[in-house]
Formats: sequence, C-alpha cells, structure tokens
Amino acid sequence: MKIYQNKIVLITGAARGIGQAIALEFATAGAIVVMADVQNEPQEAVAAQLRNEGHKAFAFHCDVANDDSVSALGSAVLEKLGCPDIIYNNAVLVRTGGVLNADLNAVRKELDVNVLGYLRIVQQFLPQMVLRGSGWIINTASPNAFVPPPIVAENLMGYCISKAAEVSMSHCMSVSLKPKGINVSVVFPDITYTDSVKELHGSASNNFNTDFASFITNEGRPATEVAARIVKGLDPNKFFFSVYNGFEGMLKTWASQKMDPGFNYLASSAL
Ligand SMILES: NC(=O)c1ccc[n+]([C@@H]2O[C@H](COP(=O)([O-])OP(=O)(O)OC[C@H]3O[C@@H](n4cnc5c(N)ncnc54)[C@H](O)[C@@H]3O)[C@@H](O)[C@H]2O)c1
Repeated sequence: MKIYQNKIVLITGAARGIGQAIALEFATAGAIVVMADVQNEPQEAVAAQLRNEGHKAFAFHCDVANDDSVSALGSAVLEKLGCPDIIYNNAVLVRTGGVLNADLNAVRKELDVNVLGYLRIVQQFLPQMVLRGSGWIINTASPNAFVPPPIVAENLMGYCISKAAEVSMSHCMSVSLKPKGINVSVVFPDITYTDSVKELHGSASNNFNTDFASFITNEGRPATEVAARIVKGLDPNKFFFSVYNGFEGMLKTWASQKMDPGFNYLASSAL
C-alpha cells in the first residue's frame, strides 16, 4: 500500500511552483489531493492531468486572505470529501520593499495571505480534526525567517516577517494541538526556481528585481526535486523539517552569534 493511500491532503497555493509539485508527489504517494488556489485554470489543469493518470484530485478556488472564500472552501470540502487528514499550507504572496520604502498596505496583504491565510485554513477544519482526534498541519516557512541574506532583509522585509511569524504560529499550534492528537510540522524548502521570480513587484528597485531573479534562476533547484525531497522526508512526529542544505548549522551559528543581523550566515553555512 502506498504511504499516503486515500489520505485527504489539502494543499494551498497548488496552482504552480512548489505547491503544484507537492500535489503531484502526494498524488503519486496515493493521496486524495485537494488543491486550493486563487488561480483556477492552472490548478484545474493539474487536477485534470492527475485524474487522467488515475489519481484522485480536486481543485477549488480559494483566496486564503478572504474569510468568506475560506469558509466556502471549508463547506465544499467537508461536504464532498470530509475533513482533510493533512493540511499543507503553502500559498504565498511576495511584495518587495524594506524598512526604508515599504508600502504598509503591501506588507498587510502579505501577512494576510502568508500568516492569517494559514491560520484561517487551519481554523476551518480544526473542529472536525479535534473531534476526530487526529490530523497533521504542515506550514511552509523559509530560512529567510531567521537568517535572510542582506539583499533579502533589505528588499523583502514583509516576506521575512511573514515567514518568521509562520514559525512562531506553528510552534503555538503544536503546543495546543499535540495533546488533541494533531501533529504540526514546519517545512523549510531549499532555494527553488519558480515563476514567482518573474513577477517581483513592490517598492524595491528594478535592480533588485533583476539581481534577485537571476540569483534564484542560477541557484534554485527545480520545484519537482524540492517537493520530492519534502514529501519523502516529512514525518508527522517531526516539528522541524528542512531540505535547505546547511540550515541547521546556520541556526546554530545564528544563536552563537547572538542573532547578530550583520553576520554573514550564508558564508558560514556548510553549503
Ligand atoms: N521558491 C523558493 O525559493 C522558496 C524557498 C523557501 C520557501 N518557499 C516557500 O514555498 C512556498 C511556495 O513558494 P513558490 O516559490 O512555489 O511560490 P509561487 O509564487 O510560485 O506559488 C505560490 C502560489 O500561491 C498562490 N496564492 C497566492 N496568493 C494566494 C491566495 N490569497 N490564496 C490562495 N492562493 C494564493 C499563487 O496563485 C501561487 O499558485 C511559499 O510558502 C514560499 O514562501 C519558497
């Protein structure tokens, strides 16, 4: 029997990038995949492809930043399939800008998708999970939560803040939900080449957009490879799961350097 045979896995932000690749991996591992994204057509195409290959896959339109939209997703999924066994929070909104030039509304929107969006989705299914006494919540963070390279700290502040908040939120969720039989994990993907770098916008300079896009294009791993490593390595009993080489070493250095923001953590890692 496949490892996730007939497990219902809800994945947000599954229309493209890492989320789409995670959906394919879970489907191959036997799961019933439920995709939730603001982009209807691409995720519907992925779901159709999976169904053609004999997998069970469904696509639902959902804006995780919108209470009514998440509530409608919850009702539709519960009615059609029942409560998910696994929630894989992955959706992300990225706006450029740092403390010197950030647009407050853009940061607010990032937090609404990347932080509150994760919480909204979880709360939608939590009553059923608690009643059942089982479930697994997986939240997608990033090494940029703790040790962003200077170019990222200066130009993607809202993203870094939101990723740090996700780690803290996952910690709080785990403490509250573990006694109720619900596991929580936080995932740190490797640098991954996805379409997000093609549409960088916000208040940072065009030079940043170009430099960052070429950094991700040159250094990023394919989403399929990163997703395969994530789904293979995930374990409901492990809170922390990183596929970013050298990240644990960077965290140790971060603590030993008293979290000094001026230290070059990237250079210190065992990459
Ligand atoms: N790409 C990387 O190098 C990298 C590294 C570390 C962590 N991550 C994390 O991995 C996750 C996926 O990143 P990616 O590069 O694949 O991103 P991406 O931009 O390619 O895909 C994000 C998806 O989220 C969807 N989305 C955006 N706003 C939404 C909303 N309001 N409601 C529902 N869906 C919404 C988008 O439509 C898109 O399909 C993110 O959480 C990101 O922070 C990525």
